[in-house]
Amino acid sequence: MKVLVTGAGGMLGTDLCADLTERQHEVIATDHREGFVPLDITDLREVRAMIREARPDAIIHCAAWTNVDGAERDPDAAYKVNALGSWNVAAATAAAEANALMVYISTDFVFDGEKGAAYTEFDAVNPLGHYGASKEAGERLVRETLPGRHIIARTSWLCGKRFPAGILSRVLPGCSASTAKVFPPRYCIWRKACRRFP
Ligand SMILES: NC(=O)c1ccc[n+]([C@@H]2O[C@H](COP(=O)([O-])OP(=O)(O)OC[C@H]3O[C@@H](n4cnc5c(N)ncnc54)[C@H](OP(=O)(O)O)[C@@H]3O)[C@@H](O)[C@H]2O)c1
Repeated sequence: MKVLVTGAGGMLGTDLCADLTERQHEVIATDHREGFVPLDITDLREVRAMIREARPDAIIHCAAWTNVDGAERDPDAAYKVNALGSWNVAAATAAAEANALMVYISTDFVFDGEKGAAYTEFDAVNPLGHYGASKEAGERLVRETLPGRHIIARTSWLCGKRFPAGILSRVLPGCSASTAKVFPPRYCIWRKACRRFP
């Protein structure tokens, strides 16, 4: 199937595109970073043109403002990408009438962490900061704009193949990228999600 990935240059997007390609899917890897099919999700016209032309079967929306501390300093920027940008993708998907499924990658930051047990999709959200609030706003906009044609995956602490060795070596002296598997590989969630695709 034809899958359009937003934020393909990011940590999740990189591994996801490689995985989808390996499974023989046709991948349109978009990002506002150089080296990808150019797509700025904050530009509605651009997003509409891309989705109308590409007519993908599925859109996996990985593009996001992921700087949690930066979102506190500049909430407008976080909302512009995480809420408005996500709405742009959902609205363009709805307008294209291509029946595409949109997968929105969300975060455990939509919760306040006070439950003391594992969260389920039925738990009430209560984000404590602008990053979580902007991602939750994105969830709502996607839900309202594409009813019945979206999946929201709330994940936490992703660590793909490009998980920065620098961070690891600061946390665990002597640790290198090759020992990164000490962390559970959350990108395996995609193996499960992809099974939903025909
Ligand atoms: N990393 C985690 O531990 C974690 C945990 C829970 C949920 N998530 C969610 O998982 C998803 C992927 O996370 P990630 O860690 O892969 O993030 P990431 O590495 O920061 O990747 C996000 C990508 O989106 C791009 N992007 C930002 N603004 C854009 C725009 N306006 N138009 C197009 N592309 C844009 C970024 O480019 P620039 O960096 O150049 O701006 C980057 O390539 C996000 O939705 C995030 O909220 C991540």
